[in-house]
Amino acid sequence: MQNKKIVLAYSGGLDTTVMIKWLNEKYGYSVITVTVDLGQKEDFKSIEERAYKAGSIKHYNIDAKEEFVNNFISKAIKANGLYEGKYPLSTALGRPLIVEKLVKVAEDEDAFAVAHGCTGKGNDQVRFEVTVKALNPKLKVYAPVREWNLNRDEEVKYANAHGIEVQAKAKKYSIDQNLWGRSIEGGPLEDPWNGVGEDVFEWLVPPEKAPEKPTFLEIGFSNGLPISLNEEKISLSELISRLNSIAGGCGVGLIDHIEDRLVGIKSREVYECPAAVTLLEAHKALEKMVLTRHELFFKELVDSEWSKLVYFGLWTEPLREDLEGFIESTQSRVEGIVRVKLYKGNLLIDGLKSPYSLYDRNLSTYGIESTFDQKMSEGFIEIWGLQSRTGYEILKRVKGNG
Ligand code: ARG
Repeated sequence: MQNKKIVLAYSGGLDTTVMIKWLNEKYGYSVITVTVDLGQKEDFKSIEERAYKAGSIKHYNIDAKEEFVNNFISKAIKANGLYEGKYPLSTALGRPLIVEKLVKVAEDEDAFAVAHGCTGKGNDQVRFEVTVKALNPKLKVYAPVREWNLNRDEEVKYANAHGIEVQAKAKKYSIDQNLWGRSIEGGPLEDPWNGVGEDVFEWLVPPEKAPEKPTFLEIGFSNGLPISLNEEKISLSELISRLNSIAGGCGVGLIDHIEDRLVGIKSREVYECPAAVTLLEAHKALEKMVLTRHELFFKELVDSEWSKLVYFGLWTEPLREDLEGFIESTQSRVEGIVRVKLYKGNLLIDGLKSPYSLYDRNLSTYGIESTFDQKMSEGFIEIWGLQSRTGYEILKRVKGNG
């Protein structure tokens, strides 16, 4: 089977670099490499050089930042996308888009298979393969890292034996990043009793070292999406980059929790997501002002279902779009301005206004100008508590007689 083409999702890291050689040597495949730019801060030129040096026959560097923002992140904002109430899904959202690009290259190049560098222990293998199979069921998928079951040392040995340069600082952490966040795993973080060391921080100033003065930002929303910063119109991708540095500079956006992976493993996950945390908090605060409580309670369920689908690798599941149908219909009223206060790792909603606000000061005020007729509450309470009161009395009587 000489000269069969395989398309590899290439990050430039040790795993995927070793993979180029391995797929070539072991199976005789010609390896085409694809690096998708989702806003990760990398030197794409040197990634390309590394790919060719390891034996790639053709390298693609695909800029998908705008698509990532417009087709993935924007949906996550409207859905308040958080897994287990904490993780803004940054890595999870990027995977289906990487796969989309990978599959397109495989089709254009008439390749028979695609390959990725995910291990057999995580969520990313699932996200990759479920999406590939949905987009093009004819493509074969190779997951050499899962197949090798090699540890890092063995891989370094293989690399050395094959003239692959291993980047000097044997990395302490496993890192994945894109515009929506930076995921950090492994090393000392594997012990949940260990705190987050300073060497974990890259996007954030550690909160205790953040400025002594608070930073105030006004974020304008329209149709559920942010459109301005401090009254200046701004594209969503530009806003996200700016917030990553502004909020990150205030120490805002660190997430540290025990996460339930799809394969059942609990893992300690740390993230730096300054823009995501800021925008999701602001969006949620505005929704609370403009949606009725019935909408809010129901939307919480829908949002959480949406987040689970994305986390669990089911971006292609039709239910996602069904849920988005509901989400979308709530968003036309999510319009207004949110003022946030950022201070040493904390984020507070400092002010809110919206033309669709359901907040009515005449109703909520304790002042004399109140229009709420308090006498009506008496009858309301009578009826509201009727069934619960009856149930309570019956229980007391039956138990009392028993
Ligand atoms: N736990 C996160 C997720 O499943 C992040 C995975 C990060 N991947 C990595 N190679 N460090 O989405």
